[in-house]
Amino acid sequence: MKIVRAKDYYDMSRKAANIISAQIIMKPDCVLGLATGSTPIGTYEQLVEWYKKGDLDFSSVTTINLDEYRGVTKEDPHSYYYFMREKLFSQVNIDLSRTYIPDGMDDDAQHACRFYEEIISRCGGIDLQLLGLGHNGHIGFNEPGTAFEARTHLVNLTEATRKANQRFFADDENVPRQAYTMGIKSIMQAKKIVVVVSGKDKAEALCAAVQGEITPNVQASVLQLHNDVTIVADQEACSLLEV
Ligand code: F6R
Repeated sequence: MKIVRAKDYYDMSRKAANIISAQIIMKPDCVLGLATGSTPIGTYEQLVEWYKKGDLDFSSVTTINLDEYRGVTKEDPHSYYYFMREKLFSQVNIDLSRTYIPDGMDDDAQHACRFYEEIISRCGGIDLQLLGLGHNGHIGFNEPGTAFEARTHLVNLTEATRKANQRFFADDENVPRQAYTMGIKSIMQAKKIVVVVSGKDKAEALCAAVQGEITPNVQASVLQLHNDVTIVADQEACSLLEV
């Protein structure tokens, strides 16, 4: 595991965007696994800026997102589909037919999950997976206690995660209770993994993930077993790490 220490959120975003750019430059038809949430927003902004300057070309890139709320339509501003379109897809020259996000409106969970796994394997697997880190150590929506063997599955979101995501919704009741997420097994098959972490409130989770025991209670701790993980974290997030 490599830990890249960044000064602040802006520096973290630029460093992560640099790693993703290198991937796109080295393999223009690469498959990127993408995350939503607050942390990667600055990374996407930086990628868009470099695209606009003519330094990046997304025309052959494929993207596969980690997760989507269940029961939320693509047009709903709370959907991860909407988020990705707004923050990245509509601002670069990506071919939308090569962007994949679990179908939150597919009621048949078995079908939705199997279909998503088929997409990942049809694309030839993920070259670089970008992840954020939840306060409880989750990655994707893989909540504490989930078997590391899980592939794409339906999750009942914990109250802690619903609370953390409440900031995006008008009130608590509107926060979805379920989501489709890629499982740890699907994530661990990515060739390279980049995790962005920012803020003091993530320091404990980061410490448990990189220096704690490998346990399903801290889903991100499984990343210690992957052979190409880079964690890009700002000073506050690193504050509890041993030097
Ligand atoms: C998002 C995702 C989640 C977030 C995590 C951190 O697609 O899968 O695991 O990465 O909840 O969220 P933020 O960045 O909002 O703190």
